Amino acid sequence: MNSKASTECFVYITLPGETEPVTAGRFELTKDRRGNALGRFVYGKSYLARRNAVAIDPVELKLSDGTYETARLNGVFGALRDASPDYWGRRVIEKHAGIAQLGELDYLLNSADDRAGALGFGLNQRPPSPRRKFNKTLELARLQQIAEALMREENVKTEEAAQVQDLMLIGTSMGGARPKAVVEDDEGLWVAKFNRPDDRWNNTRVEHAMLQLAKTCSIGVATSRLETVAGKDVVLVKRFDREKADKGYTKARMISGLTLLRAEEAVQMRDRWSYVRLAEELRRVVKEATRDAPELFRRVVFNALISNTDDHPRNHAIIAKDRDWQLSPAYDLTPSPVIAQDRRDLAMEIGDQGRFANAKNLLSQRARFLLEAEEAKAIISDMTEKLRSTWYDVVRAQGVTDKDAETIRSAFVYDGFSY
Ligand SMILES: Nc1ncnc2c1ncn2[C@@H]1O[C@H](COP(=O)(O)OP(=O)(O)O)[C@@H](O)[C@H]1O
Ligand SMILES: [Mg+2]
Repeated sequence: MNSKASTECFVYITLPGETEPVTAGRFELTKDRRGNALGRFVYGKSYLARRNAVAIDPVELKLSDGTYETARLNGVFGALRDASPDYWGRRVIEKHAGIAQLGELDYLLNSADDRAGALGFGLNQRPPSPRRKFNKTLELARLQQIAEALMREENVKTEEAAQVQDLMLIGTSMGGARPKAVVEDDEGLWVAKFNRPDDRWNNTRVEHAMLQLAKTCSIGVATSRLETVAGKDVVLVKRFDREKADKGYTKARMISGLTLLRAEEAVQMRDRWSYVRLAEELRRVVKEATRDAPELFRRVVFNALISNTDDHPRNHAIIAKDRDWQLSPAYDLTPSPVIAQDRRDLAMEIGDQGRFANAKNLLSQRARFLLEAEEAKAIISDMTEKLRSTWYDVVRAQGVTDKDAETIRSAFVYDGFSY
């Protein structure tokens, strides 16, 4: 790796229905006169001339031949930030590079090419051919071992370093903080999520159960399944942004709720984190607002009822498999057992009473989710009843132990929700 931080790169995109990337444009990270980070992006002329060209995102980088500039997010456009590795991926890359602090662009350039969405990054004008080989689900045991060594901060042995490159870098570009890798089987590509030694309950099993539970509440969820390797559980979540084709994979474009909200990741900057605003932004860009806005409402109700307080904007996304955008399936649903019975807050604003996970608060802004009062009330009461009466059985049916179920019990349908 170059010791000098990279300052520009090419941005590649895999167009709808295609499996090979093309060059979309050029991104440059510089400083303005005052020394503040400034990002610039231009679409390539030949890209704009393609009849099947699509915009990188529907918010900031619309298809046009001007130069885009941003001083927000350290000069990194939202869609590029979404494609850039998060906590877990950065750790793996730093470990591999042996450098603690890399430039923003270095993370982009060093993360693997299987990041969520349709973008790729590189220093050559022409995109590299897509990776043909992925880790197989059969290699999960090995991947898990390496992930655990990285979590323990152990120095992975030198002869293993090359394998860390091969094996783990393949999971670095997926965001999130939990240890994960991308694996392939006959059906396609999956995000494999591992348990952490410091987890208070079997997170992977519970995560899988939450996706099942959400499905019973008429929420569109990512497909998932559990695998047990070397006595440890792994949840495999099917990638909804990839589809197996004759040659390789087609890629859906994908941007996070953060980008839709033009928001920052840091919790201290959460003033733009709002489901109400997310609903409005969603309605502006998706093809079927009357389907997606109520769907978002159901997800907020669900999150409130399972105390999923980790529902920050990066745990929501929109995707475009062809030209049109839509809300992605739900993913990363985690209950958090909280002691307080009177008031719990979600990560994002819900209504007139701010982040309060409460039915009245949810109803206060139901119109923005394109719901009549009666419809919104029915969603809330049906889901409350359903979750109250079924969460335990659903969780146990997925093999969550009675002890773990008791540990998370207080997350479900807490008293303050109905005040
Ligand atoms: N099934 C999926 N298909 C495509 N992208 C996904 C899928 N699940 C998660 N992602 C992407 O990977 C990121 C990290 O996954 P997530 O489940 O949120 O992990 P974590 O628990 O570490 O936050 C998400 O923010 C999202 O961008
Ligand atoms: Mg997440």
